[in-house]
Amino acid sequence: MKTIIEPFRIKVVEPIRLTTREERVELLRRAHWNLFALHSDDVIIDLLTDSGTSAMSAEQWAAVMRGDESYAGSPSYYRFESAVRELMPFKHVIPTHQGRAAEAILFSIVGGSGRIVPSNTHFDTTRGNIEVTGAEAVDLVIAEAHDPSNPHPFKGNMDLDRLDSLLASSGNRVPLVMLTITNNAGGGQPVSLENVRGVAEVAHRHGKALFIDGCRFAENAWFIKCREPGQGARTVVDIVRDIFAVADGMTMSAKKDAFANIGGWLALNDDALAAAARNRLILTEGFPTYGGLAGRDLDAIAVGLREIVDEQYLRYRVRTNEYIGEKLTELGVPIVLPVGGHAVFVDARRFLPHIAPLQYPGQALAVALYELGGIRACEIGTVMFGQRPDGTEVPAEHDLVRLAMPRRVYTQSHADYLIEVFDEVVKVREQLQGLQIIWQPSQLRHFTARFAPVG
Ligand code: F0G
Repeated sequence: MKTIIEPFRIKVVEPIRLTTREERVELLRRAHWNLFALHSDDVIIDLLTDSGTSAMSAEQWAAVMRGDESYAGSPSYYRFESAVRELMPFKHVIPTHQGRAAEAILFSIVGGSGRIVPSNTHFDTTRGNIEVTGAEAVDLVIAEAHDPSNPHPFKGNMDLDRLDSLLASSGNRVPLVMLTITNNAGGGQPVSLENVRGVAEVAHRHGKALFIDGCRFAENAWFIKCREPGQGARTVVDIVRDIFAVADGMTMSAKKDAFANIGGWLALNDDALAAAARNRLILTEGFPTYGGLAGRDLDAIAVGLREIVDEQYLRYRVRTNEYIGEKLTELGVPIVLPVGGHAVFVDARRFLPHIAPLQYPGQALAVALYELGGIRACEIGTVMFGQRPDGTEVPAEHDLVRLAMPRRVYTQSHADYLIEVFDEVVKVREQLQGLQIIWQPSQLRHFTARFAPVG
């Protein structure tokens, strides 16, 4: 069979309120052209993030009813712990309310001024949680990753030579090495198993632990199965186990590859570090057998982890984004290649060359997608990264728009509708205008900045 169908049926539906273009023009004005300020029921297709937006399965909802809300020693925790350890056999599994809480706990212990934490590319919350301790977050992704049109199959890979020389020159300042799979900030690009092993070898040779940010581990393993020589006949579960077997710990947002609406964890082997993390957890999240979550959330994660490694699901998941990527390419819309696991990234700077980077081509495209089709996407460019601590701004390396796909939520006709909206945008691309910022906070401006059209 040629068509890769959604490998699920729909039992519960949520209506989508269909707005008109006139309404959306007014809604945009009221939101000061910042899509984070929209009410989500004014959005037709919400591609803002794939985080916490998954549709849970019937089995997950059944597990929610089984959830046990005991303060200490809940069976929900033990089900959660064993589901994590089936895939990621770490000695200590510490639940947190989401991924950034795991990062905050880890770096409150191993961070500090003068420290350096390398990764392929740190996600922004990871970077923030490192920097807030006074430490430096360093990105060492391979050079190919900086070119949006380079089709390298593993653009999330870490540059092993640069890692080796950093550890040789400043190893005494490095508490641990991180690796983000897939590399979200770099376009949802995977890391090869060979590179995971290479990073572990370099880190361990210098006496450093390797921690994996595993948010999208299943998508990463699927790419390894599809793209890495010698991996095609192996199961995703075996590949996942191989990835984590060489690591010393991980941080995780269960809002991604665990099909949960909330949750995360910190897992690790080191007893002393785990004890320090649990102390911190009790202060900031809760007792170590619930860590800021309800027992029912832990049960939903446990079931979600078994579902996410289903290869029929992963084939459909990755194919959905490839399909959108192919259609956008046919329309002449430049995208980051290859298409990532959880999102399609549009190169707005190349698509709208008449809009200067400091007039935010990514934001202009995101606004146009909403106005013309009610689609909400996320600017990942100069609005997000261009603000410097002294108040000045510089163009970001790229001006991208991320179309992040919630898991199991939208169907192929939603994808076709998205393509049609892009078709409309292509027709008016030359008329699209840039934006100016009329108010902004002193940091993380993309969430709350107010814009106005230029001119
Ligand atoms: N690491 C990566 C690679 C992420 O993509 C995220 C979240 C986090 C850590 C933090 O996890 O949200 O549970 O605290 N990414 C979301 C996104 C927000 O839209 O890409 P969290």
